[in-house]
Amino acid sequence: MSYIFAANWKLFKNPTQARAFFAEFGVLSKNFFSGGSADQIVFFPSAICLEAAAQSLSSSSIQFGAQNVYCELQGAFTGENSAQVVKDIGAQYVLIGHSERRSLFAESDALLAKKVKTVQTLDLTVMLCIGESLEQRKNNETLKVLTAQLKADLSEADPNKKLVVAYEPIWAIGTGQVATLEQVAEAHQQIHAVLKEMGFNKVSVLYGGSVKADNAKALAAVAGVDGFLVGGASLEPATFWQICQAHI
Ligand code: PGA
Repeated sequence: MSYIFAANWKLFKNPTQARAFFAEFGVLSKNFFSGGSADQIVFFPSAICLEAAAQSLSSSSIQFGAQNVYCELQGAFTGENSAQVVKDIGAQYVLIGHSERRSLFAESDALLAKKVKTVQTLDLTVMLCIGESLEQRKNNETLKVLTAQLKADLSEADPNKKLVVAYEPIWAIGTGQVATLEQVAEAHQQIHAVLKEMGFNKVSVLYGGSVKADNAKALAAVAGVDGFLVGGASLEPATFWQICQAHI
């Protein structure tokens, strides 16, 4: 399966900084696709930088998407973003259920299930984030939590539409504390098995949580890891480009 290297920029960078990043990253990665690589690179800038991404990436195979959308396409929902607008701008992906959305913005599994359905209806690729808290891991509940999140968040999803899952242990996000290779292998095996049982075939499962240039190669070699979702280490072109080469 081809690898996916995804960058989650969170609430960093303005459009000018985004354009400067893409100009520099374009130079670094220019032989990536012409070399016949089937791997994909996807950027998730903040909503206000999506237009800059669309313009900067229009002549490359690098893809981009939104970090969040609302479950309705239009209406009286002040402050929200629509998947339809994201699609009109030219994006291919939407990130759904990042742990910061779940914890800071109280997004429930029921809401996330609706968002997944809405995004899939437009034929955009859903990148669904799941992951356990430190307390859940300590209580040996990790596999149970991951299974429950998949079942709830994908309860309205269409197995024939595009889907990517990102496993992000909450305790590893932005902490520098990366999951061990054994923990990653166990979680990914479980996620692949549950997805298969639910009828979702050929879903790429990415790992996220303190992925850096110096641990990416070892993580990329773990069975069941089909790429990365990178936060902090995706903000600088040379660092993220190094991570994108972890699979070569
Ligand atoms: P991190 O973030 O790479 O900074 O740990 C990952 C994420 O939140 O997607």
